[in-house]
Amino acid sequence: MKRLTVPKLQAMKGGDPIVMLTAYTARMAQLLDPHSDILLVGDSLGQVIYGLPSTVPVTMEMMCAHGAAVVRGSWHAVVAVDMPFGSYEAGPERAFDSAARILKETGAAAVKLEGGEAMAETVAFLVGRGIPVVGHVGLTPQAVNALGGYGARGRSDAEAAKILADARAIADAGAFLLVVEGVMESLGADITRAVSCPTIGIGASAACDGQVLVTEDMLGMFERTPRFVKRYEDLAARIEGAAAGFAAEVRGRAFPTEEQLYRPKT
Ligand code: KIV
Ligand code: NA
Repeated sequence: MKRLTVPKLQAMKGGDPIVMLTAYTARMAQLLDPHSDILLVGDSLGQVIYGLPSTVPVTMEMMCAHGAAVVRGSWHAVVAVDMPFGSYEAGPERAFDSAARILKETGAAAVKLEGGEAMAETVAFLVGRGIPVVGHVGLTPQAVNALGGYGARGRSDAEAAKILADARAIADAGAFLLVVEGVMESLGADITRAVSCPTIGIGASAACDGQVLVTEDMLGMFERTPRFVKRYEDLAARIEGAAAGFAAEVRGRAFPTEEQLYRPKT
């Protein structure tokens, strides 16, 4: 199967819903790829993989290493890699250097960056130089220190109007896809109507052109998750069960048995 392309994804606006999931490793990418239109190497790997308190400390090295693994593990979905905090905000040229490094080192087709009107010039700069960009507005986790937490955005009319303006600015700057995270449902729908690129909702609206979840959240790897997560599995309990089973058999000398051991060939 040939890999999907950025223009084909862009053309899905208003059509079949777009399926996006996060992936950080080659094996997970292999398993998700047949079911996904786009795999996002999210900087959520800071919390999910590295146990960091937020996405703020995530580095370029982490994003490049995991991005390359996901490209190697996929063959059908478009792969987009998050630009880590600090790698793009200082200006368009700085952002271009970071984005080019990500595409060169990973083989991914696109980068994602957070922010609204303040990032529009940077998005246009990248897009104008051949780098497809996914935008991300609403609840932008890299701004947790400024926002004061991960609460839903757009509760007041003023904040909703600002986020709508952010969405328009990023779409008008040429982003081919826009992630809308953690906003009032009506705002998610308004943004989807207002912008020409497809929107991907996460705690946004069923009216978005597609949906994304953090795969480990969706798999039930974490005890606490935001309201917008739906669990399709209870993987944490299953892993604990497997570990407990292994531990009991090792301690009870029930593993390994004949079946797992090598003997000279006779
Ligand atoms: O880092 C991430 O996983 C993301 C998605 C939740 C959109 O940005
Ligand atoms: Na992210």
